[in-house]
Amino acid sequence: MKPLVFAANWKMHLGPPEAREYVTTFLARYRPLRDREVWFFPPAVSLEAVAGGLAAAGRDDLVAGVQDIHWEPRGAFTGAVSAPLASQAGARAALVGHSERRHVFGETDQATGRKVAAALGAALTPVLCVGELLAEREAGQTLAVVTRQLEAALGGERLDHAVLADVVVAYEPVWAIGTGRNATPQDAALVHRHIRSWLVQRGAARTRVLYGGSVSNKNVGGLLAERELDGVLVGGASLDPAGWAELVRTGAA
Ligand code: PGA
Repeated sequence: MKPLVFAANWKMHLGPPEAREYVTTFLARYRPLRDREVWFFPPAVSLEAVAGGLAAAGRDDLVAGVQDIHWEPRGAFTGAVSAPLASQAGARAALVGHSERRHVFGETDQATGRKVAAALGAALTPVLCVGELLAEREAGQTLAVVTRQLEAALGGERLDHAVLADVVVAYEPVWAIGTGRNATPQDAALVHRHIRSWLVQRGAARTRVLYGGSVSNKNVGGLLAERELDGVLVGGASLDPAGWAELVRTGAA
């Protein structure tokens, strides 16, 4: 079995000095556990500080990643970060299609496909985020929306099963992100089973599927008791290093 992934999405928090202090505290509080990995997605300005701090610890259970990438490797794209640039700064993974990119910044399904390809081209593990809006859930469209997002980013002729095995998918219902309202473990498992069957049809049974949306110390145990979940993607509850170390340590049996 692949290790569980506990991924911290810092969003627009923690600049370089704060990030360095965070990593020091986290490393002091968290000893490696064989069955879990901890991934960190700091803002791009803090990526090198985080990746450097993790590398200095010499632990392969810790991974730094970037929150978003442009699909082009370089060029006149003011404000953007490409996969090769993130890789130079120490990233080994990239979030793609996070709901805030989709719904605050207007990222399209088509763009997520290009970004997944760009990440893979630079040897970064793409963490493709999918999930429905509340209105879509209430209209009974959850599985259709998730399928559309999977098809656009990973479907078609683009990715064969060997490549899909290197991708991570994160199911994050948009109504559960930052709201304190999380899906029940059963709600999450139902959508995870759907994602899993989509992947299995393409020969990618071992692709990891994470859950995200208001995951906390209180609910993580119940969520990870569902065998469908291969880990969690956590925003708010990952910002305090001691609390995050505790969540990772106690989050799974
Ligand atoms: P949250 O964020 O844990 O604060 O809900 C999760 C995410 O957006 O990845």
